[in-house]
Amino acid sequence: MTPPAHMNLVVAWLLIAVGFVMGFVLGLNFHREDWLGGYGSRKRRLYRLGHIATIALAMINILFYFTAQTLPHPNPPLEIASWGFIIGAVTMPLCCFWMAHDQRARAVFVVPVLSLAGSALLVFREVLR
Ligand code: HEM
Repeated sequence: MTPPAHMNLVVAWLLIAVGFVMGFVLGLNFHREDWLGGYGSRKRRLYRLGHIATIALAMINILFYFTAQTLPHPNPPLEIASWGFIIGAVTMPLCCFWMAHDQRARAVFVVPVLSLAGSALLVFREVLR
């Protein structure tokens, strides 16, 4: 039987690999002071944030996977949180890249922010039980 939240583990390791590849691509131009408008430019900062978020949120998904193993199943709130952590981890870097090219796209961050914060609150409630 597949352990609970196994999907979060699969997606997490895929995102870690993608995050490393992003870092590699960033690294190809890292030496150029003016790349993407320079180190402090909005575009470069958002590309960097996309790279960091991909790896950090993958780690959150792995933490969720191990937390889920300690809780009773089936567990509908954890099923929702499972999808919320995946949606958040995938959409946060996409929002960063979108906003890097279109400053008006700020509102799209509401998707990853609500997915992640809502999922964390669901897990918090479950671990309190
Ligand atoms: C193969 C692995 C990795 C490569 C090739 C890589 C490459 C890079 C490069 C080239 C930059 C600079 C981007 C720029 O100049 O705008 C960067 C920034 C950054 N990376 Fe990675 N990275 C890797 C893994 C990681 C990991 C595992 C973490 C931690 C979760 C991480 C966290 C960061 C942070 C926090 C920054 C921003 C640093 C700063 O403020 O300048 N990276 N990375």
